[in-house]
Amino acid sequence: MVLEVKNVTKHFGGLVAVKDVTVSVRKGEILGLVGPNGAGKSTLLNIISGVYKPNNGEVFFNNENITSLSLNSICKKGIAKTFQHPQSFPGLCACEGVMISALHGNGHKPSLKEARHEAKECLSKVGFPESKLNVPLKNLNTIELRRTQLARALASRPDLLLLDELTTGLTPTEGEEAIRLIRQIRDEGITIMMIEHVMRIIMNVSDRIVVLDNGEKIAEGSPKEVGSDERVISSYLGEKYHI
Ligand SMILES: Nc1ncnc2c1ncn2[C@@H]1O[C@H](COP(=O)(O)OP(=O)(O)OP(=O)(O)O)[C@@H](O)[C@H]1O
Ligand SMILES: [Mg+2]
Repeated sequence: MVLEVKNVTKHFGGLVAVKDVTVSVRKGEILGLVGPNGAGKSTLLNIISGVYKPNNGEVFFNNENITSLSLNSICKKGIAKTFQHPQSFPGLCACEGVMISALHGNGHKPSLKEARHEAKECLSKVGFPESKLNVPLKNLNTIELRRTQLARALASRPDLLLLDELTTGLTPTEGEEAIRLIRQIRDEGITIMMIEHVMRIIMNVSDRIVVLDNGEKIAEGSPKEVGSDERVISSYLGEKYHI
């Protein structure tokens, strides 16, 4: 197992956002995380990446307990995350945004020149247009911003990539392209855990799916098993999902 989340609970005041959740991710796997709005999906990824500390429970990454490590240390260990509501540096250009990750990421210290080269490589890999490398982030469209988010995560050289609704706002064709890219990244050796609301995408790309509802894990299994699980149908899907 690359990642083991054990009995994790997170409160926000009186609200229990994540309740006693246990989830494991195998090396090389694409694990899908789904559930209704407010189910605790983003909170769970934020706990794994160190944005939040859990009130109870532990997180192990490559058999090491990382629960109390800082966000920065967790990133250097090899976990990268994209944010559902990214707040980047609007005045920076795409290339500079990705360079920051290359400079501060997982365990290597490139020079500025090397970081620029790595940033360009990561942006090219995710299909970012070369002609827009120096355009400020605030002037990019949705798909271009999504590509820069992914490139930033990749530039930190993660072993585990956490994606929070990376494909939200994309057209179906762009979504298909995102699926290809996510598979390619996994095939190159990066384990992936991803939140996604578009069923067609998550059912298609995931090896295994975990379903949260109201902070609790209510189901876990192959896309087929989860798509026909009665509890998942009543709380989330509405009807059986045919693969
Ligand atoms: N920083 C916070 N402070 C207070 N409450 C929070 C905070 N972050 C999340 N919550 C609450 O915790 C619950 C779970 O939120 P979370 O964002 O994890 O859900 P989600 O499954 O990602 O939902 P969505 O599909 O809408 O993104 C919600 O009730 C949310 O309002
Ligand atoms: Mg969310």
